[in-house]
Amino acid sequence: MAANLMHAVQYDGYGGGSAGLKHVEVPVPTPKKNELLLKLEASSLNPLDWKIQKGVMRPFAPRKFPHIPGTDVAGEVVEVGPGVKSFKVGDKVVAWLSISDGGGLAEFAVSKEKLTVARPAEVSAAEAAGLPIAGVTALQVLTQSAGIKLDGSGQEANILITAASGGVGLYAVQLAKLGNTHVTATCGARNIELVKSFGADEVLDYKTPEGAALKSPSGRKYDFVIHCALTGIPWSTFEPNLSKKGKVLHLSPSPSSMATFALKKITFSKKQLVPVWASVKSENLDYLVKLVKEGKLKTVIDSKHSLSKAEDAWAKSIDGHATGKIIVEPF
Ligand SMILES: NC(=O)c1ccc[n+]([C@@H]2O[C@H](COP(=O)([O-])OP(=O)(O)OC[C@H]3O[C@@H](n4cnc5c(N)ncnc54)[C@H](OP(=O)(O)O)[C@@H]3O)[C@@H](O)[C@H]2O)c1
Repeated sequence: MAANLMHAVQYDGYGGGSAGLKHVEVPVPTPKKNELLLKLEASSLNPLDWKIQKGVMRPFAPRKFPHIPGTDVAGEVVEVGPGVKSFKVGDKVVAWLSISDGGGLAEFAVSKEKLTVARPAEVSAAEAAGLPIAGVTALQVLTQSAGIKLDGSGQEANILITAASGGVGLYAVQLAKLGNTHVTATCGARNIELVKSFGADEVLDYKTPEGAALKSPSGRKYDFVIHCALTGIPWSTFEPNLSKKGKVLHLSPSPSSMATFALKKITFSKKQLVPVWASVKSENLDYLVKLVKEGKLKTVIDSKHSLSKAEDAWAKSIDGHATGKIIVEPF
């Protein structure tokens, strides 16, 4: 049986960055109907976590203060709530917690059965914890927004992935190469060889003039841009690099990109900018866990931090220079 109190990291209001995080002892949560209590082994951070702290999702998230942030977790089931059918105590799992409730930066967390997936022994807790938001976003933007078939059966597509060294980007490169794609990627100079080793066909250093212009070294025009970079890139930079019906799939829409989206839509432009919001589904998560088990997908771990130093992990994510996923472990 779990202890009554647990160590957790929480914040009391909007703003404050890593200095706004507080270490506290709080009651271990109780699983309700169709919920599981997990003893956490790893959580991964996403930019969304600190964006929520900044208030970008108010009033929907956080639901209330104080708030324990973190949504992407892996651990072991230690208690099941009423009605749970698919899991039992002792099962190793990966789960996505709700954005409004969070709960990932703690020793224990409650997950919904429908957003929890079994984790085979071959997949470590840290590898699995990287998957929910970053992996599922990469999967959905490629398969749903771009229509890439990951069995390689579709027509060849030229794809540009910006910020290919980040959490989403490294999954996107690997998944794109399961399909029939030619991948151009952008990242910083230090990560060019890494991104190539994960299958990118050509890689641009985003700090060079060619990289900033997003020009394919082989002269390709992009059918899809999976735009992961947090920093704004204007439409005028994308436009000349797109194929006739090329689409920019924008993961961090801003007011100016939403204006471009609307303008392209109402003028029936063939080239479009499309804002993308992924939604974590257990079937997607399960698919990704199986790919990791089969050795077809890897989680690149930028760094591991103990829960007692969660503010370092938080600051690292805000800094925007992670290579892969930032992991927090409750020990
Ligand atoms: N819409 C959705 O559903 C959804 C889902 C997930 C994520 N997102 C958003 O997508 C964005 C990316 O998320 P993430 O988890 O991948 O972030 P991340 O891991 O923090 O990305 C960091 C990486 O981006 C690289 N980078 C930064 N600016 C760049 C640029 N201009 N060109 C090329 N590379 C650049 C950095 O390289 P250097 O260190 O070399 O600078 C670093 O390796 C975030 O804004 C996030 O909120 C949206």
